[in-house]
Amino acid sequence: MIRLPLQRTHAPVIPVITVHDLNDVAPLITTLAEAGLSTCEITLRSEIGIEAIQIAASLQLDIAIGAGTVTSPDQVLAATEAGATFLVSPGLSQEVVRSAQQLEVPLIPGIATASELQAAVALGVNTVKVFPIEHIGGLGLLNAFASVWTTMNFVPTGGITIESARNYLQHPAVVAVGGSWMLPSDALKAKDWSRVSHLASRTSQLVGEQQ
Ligand code: 3PG
Repeated sequence: MIRLPLQRTHAPVIPVITVHDLNDVAPLITTLAEAGLSTCEITLRSEIGIEAIQIAASLQLDIAIGAGTVTSPDQVLAATEAGATFLVSPGLSQEVVRSAQQLEVPLIPGIATASELQAAVALGVNTVKVFPIEHIGGLGLLNAFASVWTTMNFVPTGGITIESARNYLQHPAVVAVGGSWMLPSDALKAKDWSRVSHLASRTSQLVGEQQ
C-alpha cells in the first residue's frame, strides 16, 4: 500500500486512469494489480470518477487506490469517502492542501515552478507531483529543484514514457513516477485488457529492476 512520504528506496509507478465506463473498473484495476503494480490513481476528470473509486476500493485488491485531479475541498472529501487512500492534484491550492491535512489523507499537489514549490513547503507538503514534467524541463528541472529542496520527495508526471520512466526512477529524490503509458486510450476504448496487462507487466518489471 502507498505510504507518504514514500520511501526513497521504493519508487513505484502510479498509473493515471480516467474511467469512461464503470464496467471497466474491475477488469482494469484487477489487470494492474495482477501485473504487480502497487498503486493507481483514478482521476476526477470524468463525471464517474468518484463512483469508479468506490468500485475500485470495494475490490479490496492489493493495490492502493488514489484519486487524481482533485481540485477542491469538496472533492477531497468525496474522494476520501469513496475510499481513496491518497489524493493527487495537478496544481497547488492552499484550500485543497488544508482540507487534506484536516482529514489526514495524504495529498500530492502538483507544482511546476520554484515559487509553487516554495509555497508547498510553507504549507507543510513533503511530496509534490512535478507536472507536466516532460514539457517543463524533465530531469534537468528535477535536478535543479532537488538540489535546492533537498528533503522534498518528487513524483514526476506528464508525458512520461516507459523509456523515460527508467531515468526518473533512478533519481534519488523521486519517490514515484506517474503516467498513463500503460493505458493507451485505444486499448481502453477496445477494452483490450491483455494489451494493458502486457504494458503494465513491463512497467512492473521496470519498477522491480530499480529496487
Ligand atoms: C496526469 O494528469 O497526471 C497526466 O494526465 C498523466 O500524464 P500522461 O497522461 O502524460 O502520462
